[in-house]
Amino acid sequence: MSTRSGEAGTDPARRGRFVALEGPDGAGKTTQVAAVASALGALVTREPGDTALGAQLRRLLLESRGEAAPGRRAEALMMAADRAQHVESVIEPALAAGRHVVTDRFTGSSVAYQGYGRGLDPLEVLALSHFATAGLEPDLIVLLDVPVAVTARRLGEVRDRIEAAGDGFHERVRTGFLAQADVDPERWVVIDGTAAADAVAAAVLDAVRSRLGVPS
Ligand code: TYD
Repeated sequence: MSTRSGEAGTDPARRGRFVALEGPDGAGKTTQVAAVASALGALVTREPGDTALGAQLRRLLLESRGEAAPGRRAEALMMAADRAQHVESVIEPALAAGRHVVTDRFTGSSVAYQGYGRGLDPLEVLALSHFATAGLEPDLIVLLDVPVAVTARRLGEVRDRIEAAGDGFHERVRTGFLAQADVDPERWVVIDGTAAADAVAAAVLDAVRSRLGVPS
């Protein structure tokens, strides 16, 4: 069950299941999110930028350059603000109404990018995200793992502010994702994202169905 500490009221048996896809830039998440969501009949959503406020935050986060670019703590807070709005106005109402939700990125991205990537304390970033989500956690987190050499090739030269960080940053991000999966194998499943899109989709769907007990 998607968990939300300290909340009472809705019947937990009727809540939708909540799945997050995580992975580095260029892992192919967007394609896989669409495939899983269509198989489950789930709502598709993403971070940052799914709400009206989030769309503005996304632009500020990814397009600001020079003096206007957020520092690492501001970046972490803006990601958290996007997530707070996303949970409150999109994810939680859907789950409470019994709808499954598949999100392209969630807390795991903040821990990997702002924690491991930018060098903030991953536990502080996690605590900030916990505040933003009021404790909501995915039932299952699917990590599409792809080596940096492969994602760098897929991304090419045209990159947003975060994608444009160096290979060292993206190596730390990958390490951060794998470390989170390592300490919480009940919630995380790691899928090799280097295979052909169809094979990855089959592996992801298989994991989602078996881990969540959703019938095919
Ligand atoms: P995404 O939309 O997945 O990228 P794209 O548009 O290329 O598919 O994510 C945008 C960027 O935001 C990506 O580089 C990862 C970054 N990000 C963080 O750094 N922290 C976060 O908490 C989230 C949700 C995203």
